[in-house]
Amino acid sequence: MTNWDFISTNMSLIDAKKLVKTYFSGGVPNPVIKGISFKIEDGEFVAITGPSGSGKSTLLHMIGFLDEPTEGQFCFDGKCMVDLTDDEVSYTRNFEMGFVFQAFNLLARTSVYDNVKLPLMYSKIPEKEWDKLIMDAINAVGLEHRTDYLSSQLSGGEKQRVAIARALVAKPKVIFADEPTGNLDSVTGKKVMEFLRKLNREDGHTVILITHDLSIAKTADRVIHILDGEIESDRRTKNSKSESRNPKQIRNSKSKKSKKK
Ligand SMILES: Nc1ncnc2c1ncn2[C@@H]1O[C@H](COP(=O)(O)OP(=O)(O)OP(=O)(O)O)[C@@H](O)[C@H]1O
Ligand SMILES: [Mg+2]
Repeated sequence: MTNWDFISTNMSLIDAKKLVKTYFSGGVPNPVIKGISFKIEDGEFVAITGPSGSGKSTLLHMIGFLDEPTEGQFCFDGKCMVDLTDDEVSYTRNFEMGFVFQAFNLLARTSVYDNVKLPLMYSKIPEKEWDKLIMDAINAVGLEHRTDYLSSQLSGGEKQRVAIARALVAKPKVIFADEPTGNLDSVTGKKVMEFLRKLNREDGHTVILITHDLSIAKTADRVIHILDGEIESDRRTKNSKSESRNPKQIRNSKSKKSKKK
């Protein structure tokens, strides 16, 4: 036995119900996610772990509204995907969710500033507010001295911080990060993890992190382990007991402070 406790939560910022994903190649079904159910509450820091090919990214794509399940239902903040129009799905994805991918997905010959600006261009946020939001996000990841650099001129860790700034710029409720430290050396990876932790603890963002590195997973509050398309275990870590917070209050007080400036 470890000193982790089994999960039991009724909250539901994220509510996945019997999710199934089956790919078909040459007419042959390949069941990748085999009926997964779980809930994640507002303000949690959750790691999803599992070996390569176990279905982690496939699961993240479904709970990030990037792909539809073959069966089952997924609800985000009380809104279920089946009930939403395409526009409402896009709105939720663009405004309430931020994504950080392992390959960064930055535009290489584009400045840090313009990379971070990208999600705002698809948003309904008035253009006059963009500059402050962009600079707040760039400052939040400590890259103000790199604002005009092209992303091709940055180190791996700096690129990942730009990707995080871009995920944050529209102030999403939840940040999905798929192997955000996978391309980084251990020191830079640790800094990125500390940064995600700070976003969760201090700014009230829910963070859902995919990793196959168990030492990184243990820095989360809760670890969901996927094996062969099913949840093998769902446990809280010691960190989850260290503080009790109300993420809504944290986010509200932050946005009031930034309006006063
Ligand atoms: N678009 C797709 N079409 C067909 N099969 C796919 C597709 N995407 C993923 N798969 C298959 O689904 C399985 C799970 O893939 P997934 O990317 O979810 O794994 P993962 O757990 O994220 O692995 P890794 O740690 O290597 O990133 C793999 O066998 C993969 O080949
Ligand atoms: Mg993956």
